[in-house]
Amino acid sequence: TRDKMPPVKGDILVHALETKEGQPIRPSELSDELVRAWPMGKDENGNNVIRKGDPNNILAIYRFPKGQLQEPTNMEATVDGEIVVYSDVCTHAGCSVSDNDKRPGTMNCPCHSGQYDPKQGCKVIGGPPPRPLAQLPVRLEGENLVVGDFFLQHPYPFSEEAWEARKE
Ligand code: FES
Repeated sequence: TRDKMPPVKGDILVHALETKEGQPIRPSELSDELVRAWPMGKDENGNNVIRKGDPNNILAIYRFPKGQLQEPTNMEATVDGEIVVYSDVCTHAGCSVSDNDKRPGTMNCPCHSGQYDPKQGCKVIGGPPPRPLAQLPVRLEGENLVVGDFFLQHPYPFSEEAWEARKE
């Protein structure tokens, strides 16, 4: 069903936080603190459907001051080199990753202390994760953040083969 589909090109990113769930995320609400989002698309009748039926669809959004995002972040897949979106699902065993309060500017997985750097394409900077959190291309349409394409790397729990097949 469509609420379980991974992000689809054209989906709008909406808040996952319970008190704001389903509200479109505005660029002005974003900062260097993680904001969790769901992709929201349409069902067969044209009604909005939040793709939260699969918890692995949870996304992490950041907005960094210009110049802070670095390689290997794909800049073309960001908004103005400032807003960047990743899968929020740890590539080790699928836990939801948070900001690391002990090491500001980095992310920490609560399960086995996997560490990621969201300014550097969410590359792994500590712990057991085998690969980065996958970056999701995003663009701005009016005030909405819109999915531009499928993940640039394979997100948990996709195998590389499943991701390749999905990209087409
Ligand atoms: Fe994240 Fe193990 S699930 S480090």
